[in-house]
Amino acid sequence: MIVLTTTIIVSWNLIIAPSHGWVASLPRRICVSHFKVHPRLSLSKETQQQQQHHRQQHREPDNRFGNKAYWDESYRNSLGNILDDDCGNGQHNTHDPSTGTFSWYCGWKDELEPFFAELVPPGINPSVLVPGIGNDACIRDMFDAGYRRLTAFDYAPAGVECARRMLGPERLRLMEDLRVADARSLPYRDASYDAVLDKGTLDSIYLSGGKNKELSRMHLSMAITELARVVKVGGIVFCVTAACVDEVQRSFDACNDTNGRWRQIRDGTLYVTEDGYTSNNVDATILVWERIG
Ligand SMILES: C[S@@+](CC[C@H](N)C(=O)[O-])C[C@H]1O[C@@H](n2cnc3c(N)ncnc32)[C@H](O)[C@@H]1O
Repeated sequence: MIVLTTTIIVSWNLIIAPSHGWVASLPRRICVSHFKVHPRLSLSKETQQQQQHHRQQHREPDNRFGNKAYWDESYRNSLGNILDDDCGNGQHNTHDPSTGTFSWYCGWKDELEPFFAELVPPGINPSVLVPGIGNDACIRDMFDAGYRRLTAFDYAPAGVECARRMLGPERLRLMEDLRVADARSLPYRDASYDAVLDKGTLDSIYLSGGKNKELSRMHLSMAITELARVVKVGGIVFCVTAACVDEVQRSFDACNDTNGRWRQIRDGTLYVTEDGYTSNNVDATILVWERIG
């Protein structure tokens, strides 16, 4: 009986192994390593190594900020507080968690806006991609500041639902796209955006490797390659990061020439806009690259 049960469980794991989502959703107790495998059923060393590698790739990260289930649950908890916001009803509480919204590192008005708008003014009607939107009210405030061609995504479905409620039907109708997607494998065409505005998402992606720095770098590099791929020549990747400044820098340097040619135009040192806004008022480091070829 034990042999039969184990066979089913081992086979099931082998069949579903290629799918990240399924594996992640497997109940903990249904895990090969929790069973004593009968000697006759022992897997070959190569298969064991493959499984170990796979488990390492798809295990729950040991840092909660790199964990999809953590984000999804926290956004589910925020959902009830988010006010359905019709365009122009004035209920903007960018930094108020009691409204269910939360902006990492900075809000939009007088915080991120001066630095972003200097490079990508709303007047040129730019197409902007916002990865890992969650319940960040910045996108709503960007829309109200004149950015209409907005696309946003998050890998946490409840994060997308938060954004949907926060934006309200009128803005949703006018912006370009909002969906569930993973930054490491994007459903968008090459060279289709004038700008990517990342705030905290690359941090979260880096942390998804937990203590395994090699895995962290791999996830980060996958995401940066994808973000670079979808930006047009003349466009920018604008990144606000705290958890992995050096790694983002390294990863972007590495993708130069393979995904277009890039030049860095903000390197994290103190920057002052023409209007006198200083970048040290943003609670993280601003890194920006422009695609030049
Ligand atoms: C630190 S929060 C930042 C949220 C928002 N950008 C802000 O500035 O307030 C990180 C966000 O990235 C999302 N995220 C993490 N890994 C992701 C991935 N691989 N693809 C898409 N979204 C991801 C999380 O669900 C979360 O919403």
